[in-house]
Parts: sequence; structure tokens; C-alpha cells
Amino acid sequence: MSIARELRVEGQRIGLVPTMGALHEGHLSLVDRASSTCDKVVVSVFVNPLQFGPAEDFGRYPRDLARDAELAFTRGVDFIFAPSVEEMFPAGFGTFIDVDQLSGRLEGASRPGHFRGVATVVAKLFNIIHPSFAFFGRKDAQQSILIKRMVRDLSIDVEVVICPIVREADGLAISSRNAYLDVEQRAAAVVLRRALERCRTLYSGGERDSARLIQAMRSILAAEPLASVDYVAITDTRDLSQILVISPDSPALVSMAVRLGHTRLIDNIVLNGDL
Ligand code: PAJ
Repeated sequence: MSIARELRVEGQRIGLVPTMGALHEGHLSLVDRASSTCDKVVVSVFVNPLQFGPAEDFGRYPRDLARDAELAFTRGVDFIFAPSVEEMFPAGFGTFIDVDQLSGRLEGASRPGHFRGVATVVAKLFNIIHPSFAFFGRKDAQQSILIKRMVRDLSIDVEVVICPIVREADGLAISSRNAYLDVEQRAAAVVLRRALERCRTLYSGGERDSARLIQAMRSILAAEPLASVDYVAITDTRDLSQILVISPDSPALVSMAVRLGHTRLIDNIVLNGDL
């Protein structure tokens, strides 16, 4: 906290990359972007208990701070902020941020309370680090949209920068949870990307009807026996409301969550622009 204050007094532009650790190229792409914009880069590493549901993987989420620190410092990060749960949520903690309308949709419908936990912890990180810029990945599109909304609604003095999805060679979006997949599931996981690519191809060919695009994606996903669909949706990037017919003037978020065994993967593309 006092280092952050000193840097601010010196007029340094701090860039914050919030993470839950288990750093990979997706996280490190945010670091690279932060380094190109800011004087000092801070990575926070905190597996936030508030954003995990009771049946989710909080307990087994990968934690290796020494490895994360090594990767981050090698990539040019200036500071790592890795608080304990007690530091972030001392006994009696009871103040939460709910981003109305956005938090119950898509991921929020399947993961009640998730975004309340995300918004609350990110607001705390902003208050502790006081970054000028904060970097998030479009991989978690709803999270990015929600943080932008929180910053606007609460007049938080941070510029939120949304960065592109980094993928494995076969197109699977990089995620810490990919490590949970066995060999067959890992091979099957490319189906998310394939379905999204099909959507983009149909869209480029003139298809504008969301129901037909969703049907085409669902049939690709259904052909993969190891995959079970949680949702496939086409929504407005501003308020995440459903889009029935895609208009060329406004960006559309095509997003999905798919289970492979116990592992839940998400992916998305944006048609007509970006977040
Ligand atoms: P985590 O899942 O660790 O992700 C940290 C950041 O990395 C997020 O902004 C996420 O969108 C981005 N990211 C993950 N995989 C990516 C990929 N393949 N390409 C580009 N960016 C990627 O998201 C969280 O942590 C937490 O919810 C957090 C914001 C830290 C709050 O606890």
C-alpha cells in the first residue's frame, strides 16, 4: 500500500494486472500490454474465495507463488501483490459490490454470487494499488464488461483496458483450468473454438439470425460426445441482453460455456468490433 502511494506521489503511471496466479501466456500478454503503457507494472496474485461457489474448485485451484513470481519478474513485472485471505477479508468483512443487470446473466446464471465476488475483490485491489490502468482479458468477456461498468458507475479513476484472447496452437483459449483436462478431453476441447469459427463463417456469409447461428454452434458441440453445453448465447456487448437479429452497427458477443467432464470451459468471439 505505501509503495503504491509513493509511486503515485512520484507521478508514475501504475498498471495493474489482477490474476489468481497459475500464470500463463494469457496473463503474460496482459503484462506485456501493461509494460507498453505504464511506468510500473503490478501483478496481483490472489485466489479469491468470494468468487468461487461452494461446489467449485477453490480448494484445488493451482497455487505456486514462487513459480508465478519467477515468470512475472522475468517478464518485467515490477511488483507482485499476493495478499492472504485474512488481509483481504478480515473477520467481519461485510461490504460487497453488485453490478446490477450484468451479474446475473450468462456466467452469472450458472455461477450465482461469482460476479459479486469478482467486483468486490477488484474494487479492493483498485483501492489498494491505485492503478492508472488495469488490464483484463477478453477471454472473460462478461467480467471485462462488468468491471468497466463498475468503474463507470462508481466513478473509479482507473482506465480499464481489455486485451485479446491468447490461444494454444490448436485454437483452445489458454486457461489455468485446461490443466484439469485429461488427454481425450484436451483433444475434444478444440470444439469450442470450432463452433465459434463456424459462427463467424456463417456471419461473414450473411447470416444475421441469432437462433440459426446458435443452432449451428450447438450442432457442432453436440457432435463431440465428451462435451456438454452449459450455454451458447449471442448478446449485446453493453448490457448482455439477447440479440435476436445481429445488426451491422453494434458489436455482438458470441459466448459459450461447455463442460468436459468436471471442467467448465468458456470462450467467445465478438462480431462487428470489440468490447
Ligand atoms: P484469472 O482467471 O487468473 O485471469 C486473470 C486475467 O487474465 C483476466 O483478466 C483474464 O481474462 C485474463 N486471461 C486469462 N486467460 C486469458 C487468455 N487466454 N487470453 C487473454 N487473457 C486471459 O479473472 C480472474 O483471474 C479473476 O476473476 C480476477 C479478475 C483476478 C479477480 O479475482
